Amino acid sequence: MKKILITGAFGQIGSELVPALQKRFGEDNVVALAHRTRHDAFDGIIETGDVTDADAIEAIIKKHNIDTVYHLASLLSATGEKDPQLAWDVNMNGLKLILDLAVKHELRVFWPSSIAVFGPTTPRQNTPQHTVLEPTTMYGVTKLAGELLCQYYTLKYGLDIRSLRYPGLISHQAEPGGGTTDYAVAIFYEAIKTGAYECFVSKDTMLPMMYMDDAIEGTIQLMDADWDKLTVHTSYNMAAISFTAEELAAEIHKRIPVTVTYKPDSRQKIADSWPQSIDDSVARTDWGWKHSFDLSRMCDVMLENLTVKLAK
Ligand code: SER
Repeated sequence: MKKILITGAFGQIGSELVPALQKRFGEDNVVALAHRTRHDAFDGIIETGDVTDADAIEAIIKKHNIDTVYHLASLLSATGEKDPQLAWDVNMNGLKLILDLAVKHELRVFWPSSIAVFGPTTPRQNTPQHTVLEPTTMYGVTKLAGELLCQYYTLKYGLDIRSLRYPGLISHQAEPGGGTTDYAVAIFYEAIKTGAYECFVSKDTMLPMMYMDDAIEGTIQLMDADWDKLTVHTSYNMAAISFTAEELAAEIHKRIPVTVTYKPDSRQKIADSWPQSIDDSVARTDWGWKHSFDLSRMCDVMLENLTVKLAK
């Protein structure tokens, strides 16, 4: 039986991955690790700890007899630019610590990478799996170094480590914290709450995005995949939909009236350094990845669920 530990359990991805894994493997087999405890988010086993504290994490791994870790704890791109030192500490040292514990306790590991591994010198359209990687944010630097570290531990120690380069993730449950793609979530909240949104990137900014259900489904699918079929041990490109900020606003406006103004801030430069669309054909070939949500369906589900949530 799988015994799973999820770090960053109350973050944007963890908030939905924890319940999905609980459903699949049973509540008793999933341990949610959070930096600050929020017992209201979901039932089940919750531990509090710091992902840079090796002794604390090892104690939790031993206590619960963990064999698989989803190491999600991380600072995102915009927060990382505010405190690059903290981004390095949490993102790099946290990952290295988990990988060292994986060697010691023979753990399988899932680790999220990002489109942030790409940079201004990367081809921006249909960005290939194997391409120029020169990120210009600390977040991107830690994700790229992390990918290489994952591959190194796989080759050197024979570990089973799997990773995805998530695009911007859009969900109605946990809000993102400090990312560049956050506008694509915030616009839904503001459209419902006030009918107006001031967007922090320009209207023609196009980035790769994905509805959270697809991201969760893909993550579970990758972890289920036959190891022998996996040809990428850094991190897989993974894509669903690409749209400009203006196209998103127009799609929402078809459903509810929203006035969007554009006032780019420092996050524009980060957005401009990332691809507009991603070629994820390797993931589709190796382990059968495919997305289900297009822009229209995502807008329907987001507005439907957020309207209920914000009325409470
Ligand atoms: N959504 C992330 C960010 O904007 C990208 O991985 O930082």
